[in-house]
Amino acid sequence: MTGTTRIGVLFGGPSAEHEVSCASALGVARALAERGHHVVALGLTRTGGLRMVPEPVLTRHLTTVAAGRAIDDRLPVTGPAVELRRGAGTGTVAVTAADAPATRHAELDVVFPVLHGPYGEDGVVQGLLESLGVPYVGCGILASAVGMDKVAMKRALRAEGVPTTPHVWFDEPTWRAAENPEKLVVGLRRPLFVKPARMGSSIGISRVTGDDDLAAAVEEAFRHDQVVLVEQGVTGRELECGVLGGWRPEASTVGEVRVAGGWFDYRQKYFGDTDPMIVPAPLPDEVTARIRELSVRAFAAIGGWGLARVDFLYDESTGELFVNELNTLPGFTAHSMYPKVWAASGVAYPEVVDRLVALALDRHAARPSGGHPGGAR
Ligand SMILES: Nc1ncnc2c1ncn2[C@@H]1O[C@H](COP(=O)(O)OP(=O)(O)O)[C@@H](O)[C@H]1O
Ligand SMILES: [Mg+2]
Repeated sequence: MTGTTRIGVLFGGPSAEHEVSCASALGVARALAERGHHVVALGLTRTGGLRMVPEPVLTRHLTTVAAGRAIDDRLPVTGPAVELRRGAGTGTVAVTAADAPATRHAELDVVFPVLHGPYGEDGVVQGLLESLGVPYVGCGILASAVGMDKVAMKRALRAEGVPTTPHVWFDEPTWRAAENPEKLVVGLRRPLFVKPARMGSSIGISRVTGDDDLAAAVEEAFRHDQVVLVEQGVTGRELECGVLGGWRPEASTVGEVRVAGGWFDYRQKYFGDTDPMIVPAPLPDEVTARIRELSVRAFAAIGGWGLARVDFLYDESTGELFVNELNTLPGFTAHSMYPKVWAASGVAYPEVVDRLVALALDRHAARPSGGHPGGAR
């Protein structure tokens, strides 16, 4: 892309991945600034308030890389309380003072949500941006919502012939009413993975090996959602692939996450001492090719636009490959898998970010006149 676009980077938010989002957002903001765009950093507090990061604070963070772990190098959610309103131009959005709507701090051409998990990645923010009529980066309402709901996601994948792990799901009243709840999971081999339908960061997920711990695992998952999935466990490797594009998306090189203790839990994701990522993953060429092909199909199955990271489970002993999940706003720090697999494919971080902005503008420009209320893509 050429020329200066005014881009609002939306980050923080109420999810458990607040800090990761602040770190991802700094990476994105640096890349946008490097490409000559005008960046406005908009931080969401954990309770949903919006703050516009003052320019000197933003500049300091853009130009100084904090020492320490990747997570320490992040944008702060600080500054005056602001709101987003329809802008002066068509397709722009205004950042106004929260207590004085006539006071305009900035006007934006594009919003780049760098929010992870519920609220930011599940279609809620996408719906807000649709209603404001502003172009935004990444998946639309439908793909975001389907990507966040593991039951809906598996249905969409299966409908398109993309392999997913054997599983069952039930709602809380059904589980409570069952005379023998164990019967709900007959046919699934152990270990089992019990998950809330809509979460992230491995929160609420348990690995169940024995007979006694299923009920406790289901109760734990119900703390986060009224719909719970029980999946057959796959003993094998975890592989991840980046998808980037619109109607003709491309798949990146494949990366691998080497996890300890049988699965990638919350502690390892964010507090592990060692970098578990290997890029590219050591795999036979045909397995890599199949993962890339399935990634593009999985992206199309949810109606994706812009980006997603597609995560796989691979059982080497049987050769079986399953799509575990899609993440429509994957981690985006300089050390995250999504930018890494693209860099290894010859697309550097700033180029990825630039392409995403161009895709946001393409989708907006192609909307039927009057806008597409569903914002599916
Ligand atoms: N069916 C499964 N077989 C083996 N491991 C699994 C399975 N489902 C989940 N896991 C493990 O649990 C982790 C988190 O599950 P995932 O479905 O990716 O949830 P989240 O959306 O919280 O990341 C995975 O990265 C993997 O380590
Ligand atoms: Mg996951």
